[in-house]
Amino acid sequence: MLLIDGKKISTDIKDELKVRVEELKSKGIEITLAVIQVGNDPASSVYVGNKKKACAYIGINSLAYELEESTTQEELLELIAKLNADSKVNGILVQLPLPSHINEKSIINAIDPMKDVDGFHPVSVGNLSIGQPGFLSCTPAGIVQLLKRSGVEIAGKECVVIGRSNIVGKPISLLMLRENATVTIAHSKTKDLKEVAKRADILIVAVGKPMFINSEYVKEGAVVIDVGIHRKEDGKLCGDVDFEDVKEHVSAITPVPGGVGPMTIAMLMKNCVDSIEIAEANNA
Ligand code: GUN
Repeated sequence: MLLIDGKKISTDIKDELKVRVEELKSKGIEITLAVIQVGNDPASSVYVGNKKKACAYIGINSLAYELEESTTQEELLELIAKLNADSKVNGILVQLPLPSHINEKSIINAIDPMKDVDGFHPVSVGNLSIGQPGFLSCTPAGIVQLLKRSGVEIAGKECVVIGRSNIVGKPISLLMLRENATVTIAHSKTKDLKEVAKRADILIVAVGKPMFINSEYVKEGAVVIDVGIHRKEDGKLCGDVDFEDVKEHVSAITPVPGGVGPMTIAMLMKNCVDSIEIAEANNA
């Protein structure tokens, strides 16, 4: 059984990006990411801190906007408009969730698609679905990298994705299709989920329920990617997959923590670096 090491793979990607950023700097090109946080949700503060640290490691400039919880939607839209117009800013990231008085969709839609490094804008999702260059949402892009860099062949394989969220389930399904897998999307209304899941050579689980998937859902020798992260009562972290129950039956699996999690920030950094080429491709 291969334990897919997201920590090592994400570090490799960040080190490769560092080299690309140095090359761009030698041509006089700097990359700047604007990170906006509204309010001070503790989990968001940790994520934002990690994003700033990753920028510093790779050599990307980061501009931090830490706004009061009481910030209005209009004020946030004004800041986004200013950053959209600023040619020195390559990427804009608004940390989610936003306070309930702000409409998330309006904010995502206001970001210039050429600066949408989260890959959440409808233009980015549309580009992904028709195979045009554009920003890929970070967690799905990270999953493909985990598979490829662990030597898992995707083309022609049966891939079952459990979960259909806009952030993970839908985009990972499109990406696996682009990689020539045969893709099934299962969800809470799927009948005979165990039977459907057991078809998978590659099973991607993004249901948001702790230890939901046990060995009854897994074909012998399958590759299992666990997108979930939850804190158990004993304080330890677990995923959507019951790791201990499943591990003897798989050929490869991601641990939680240390699997998919570290990849999200690495791929955000990749989107920031790719922003130069994506802008060029769209201006061509
Ligand atoms: N909140 C949790 N995950 C994410 C993410 O990937 N991007 C943003 N902007 N907010 C998040």
